[in-house]
Amino acid sequence: MSSLPTIAVLISGSGSNLQALIDATQTGKLRAKIIVVCSNRKAAYGLERAAKAGIPTRTFSLKQFKDQGKTRVDFDVYMAKTIQEEYNPDLIVLAGFMHIVSPEFLSFFPRQNIINLHPALPGQFDGAHAIERAYEAYKQGKIQHTGVMVHKVIADVDRGQVILERPIPIEDKDTLEDLENRIHSIEHEIIVEGAQKFLDEL
Ligand code: GAR
Repeated sequence: MSSLPTIAVLISGSGSNLQALIDATQTGKLRAKIIVVCSNRKAAYGLERAAKAGIPTRTFSLKQFKDQGKTRVDFDVYMAKTIQEEYNPDLIVLAGFMHIVSPEFLSFFPRQNIINLHPALPGQFDGAHAIERAYEAYKQGKIQHTGVMVHKVIADVDRGQVILERPIPIEDKDTLEDLENRIHSIEHEIIVEGAQKFLDEL
């Protein structure tokens, strides 16, 4: 039997999407092995989720680099080099990783094997606070629905080739929290399907 493809997951916070990936590897829905979880925040709860599942973790601190007089690019190079040289994963999944990776980071992965989960449809609400911005836009009558997508990561934030996208309705009675919950539950599916789709196409 050939060995499973390997995944590195990068997170910054709660890691509910990481959990969806872990669960899917355990049920066999995602045919891959998560070999490392990296966080740019020491307090990210996702690190505990990884540890509980027996997955090695790494933490990278931009602040530590800055305190030493180094740059954001130095930080990105260190992080990319570590992931590439120590783990050499088939796929890197950004699952709530709140750090915009630089072209220098991306240059370590010429196979373009980095994907990102973003809580908006292609071309809408790039960058931070996408859900809040979609909710506001709905209230102002500018959109009828929002969505989520998994896309390849390129230097242009949230503009890489779309792997999967799914529209999500917004209803008049929705609070922001209702919409967030609906989006998160769909994210937990699409991140698994997007990762599997990427690996199937390798
Ligand atoms: C998710 O909603 C994800 O789409 C978003 O951060 C959240 C992380 O949740 N990512 C972005 O906005 C990236 N631009 P989690 O830590 O529970 O997985």
